Amino acid sequence: MLDRPHPTPAAPTLDPFALAKALSGYHFVDGGYVPGRNGKTFAVVNPATGVEVARAAEGDADDVDMAVQAAARAQKEWAKVPARKRGALVHQCAALLKEHQEELARLIALETGKALRTESRVEAGVVADIFEFFGGLGSELKGESVPFAPNVLSVTVREPLGVVGAIIPWNVPMLLMALKVAPALVAGNTVVVKSAEEAPLAVMRICELMNRVLPPGCFNILSGFGPECGAPLVDHPKVRKVTFTGSVETGKIVARAAANKLVPVTLELGGKSPMIVFADCDFDKTVSGALTSMRFTRQGQSCTAASRIYVERPIFDRFVAAMKSAVDNMVMGDPLDEKTDIGTIVSEGQLEKVRGFIEEGRKTPGATAHVCSAMPNDPALKKGLFIQPVIFTGLTSDSRLVREEIFGPVTVIAPFDEAESVLAEANDSEYGLAASLWTNNLKVGLDLAHRLEAGLVQINQNLVVQANLSYGGVKSSGLGKEASLEAMLEHFTHKKTIMVNMG
Ligand code: NAI
Ligand code: MG
Repeated sequence: MLDRPHPTPAAPTLDPFALAKALSGYHFVDGGYVPGRNGKTFAVVNPATGVEVARAAEGDADDVDMAVQAAARAQKEWAKVPARKRGALVHQCAALLKEHQEELARLIALETGKALRTESRVEAGVVADIFEFFGGLGSELKGESVPFAPNVLSVTVREPLGVVGAIIPWNVPMLLMALKVAPALVAGNTVVVKSAEEAPLAVMRICELMNRVLPPGCFNILSGFGPECGAPLVDHPKVRKVTFTGSVETGKIVARAAANKLVPVTLELGGKSPMIVFADCDFDKTVSGALTSMRFTRQGQSCTAASRIYVERPIFDRFVAAMKSAVDNMVMGDPLDEKTDIGTIVSEGQLEKVRGFIEEGRKTPGATAHVCSAMPNDPALKKGLFIQPVIFTGLTSDSRLVREEIFGPVTVIAPFDEAESVLAEANDSEYGLAASLWTNNLKVGLDLAHRLEAGLVQINQNLVVQANLSYGGVKSSGLGKEASLEAMLEHFTHKKTIMVNMG
């Protein structure tokens, strides 16, 4: 690859601005950086200041074809590498990602506005953990022997699907990419990722780092827009599996395109995750649980955000007051500053969308907007996409704020009187991604856990994605699971039956 440009430093760098600049204008294909063929680029903006920090290559169908052809060539050889060896290489990637954790954290903070201490560093750590976990699963790609007839040996084997096309969003791009790339590679597939237009940099650096270990062409990444770069990736005849995380609307477009080719598709889409708080809960633990459940530190930009909180009436007022005061104590500011709890919204478009919901809430008769925390006063941040978190009370279940995914720091708290009615309200949603219950009565908790329509229900905690726990929703929240052994086997392999008649 000596003829290719190599713009980035080999050692971890703590200057995200320099790294962002160095990554400008490239895709990463077939083991090296390549400039976009059409020469077009788009701006990557620091949402904390409004200043452009990089230009990303604007990929198109030609770039897609180049990347998919490279991945298809590489896949033939990669599939022949013994599964445990593939896993070992992915494990080695995890070690490299750990060495670069701080660098990746700073870069993702710069491009997405997520606070370094509370969010970005955590994401970079989980990414390495996910690669490490899947790296250990190579030997689990096993088949079965099937009883058929005494003279016939009948076995199943797990085979890779081929080239995987992966489309990712901007909210937790490194982690959501890892959930796709790690199992796909260990299972013997190769991958072409289309990054999110708001956050193309850190994921590209990850791709470069992993290419120091993996054979060229196994892991490729393109930046670009959805219709111009994402759609041709889904449509490419050599892409044999599509995996997508993002909005419901785009997920349906992707699923229809995959259906046209009859290739399997995994979809991780939105959510409107309920949090149900009973009066007998451990109060302080539950209030702090609500802060993490709602992902206030990520400005609520999470598909599992607890954006509907139902609180049993006797503790309702106390709970709202405690939450307001806890969010008031969170510091909004420069994402790269260690003191900051809450950074910015990712983009102007997203900010406008969130503001629209807040305005609508404010205008709803009977509703109260509890505006929390304080805008940063550093003049350098005056163009930053900051917005104060808002807790709404007094909204009814027909409000758009209760029904739709806001993807911003806005949550709705409503009182309830009995378990059956709150269960009905919780399930009255288009979505079914996650839910949490907070109670010391585990009999009630478990009963409701079984009856909640969600892919993940947690009682007295609300952790984010964990290695080896299947993650994925029901209803409009998606199709299929990620993060687990089951996810790798079911979504990145097919089972072939081989029969030997021994006469
Ligand atoms: P989106 O779903 O449009 O974008 C996600 C990815 O899909 C991006 O990489 C985008 O370029 C790509 N894409 C867009 N159109 C495509 C097409 N026709 N074919 C193939 N790929 C395509 O989400 P967007 O516009 O960033 O955000 C809109 C809303 O979606 C947010 O306000 C939020 O409510 C929700 N969202 C949910 C996420 C989740 O994790 N569930 C993540 C991001 C957004
Ligand atoms: Mg979109």
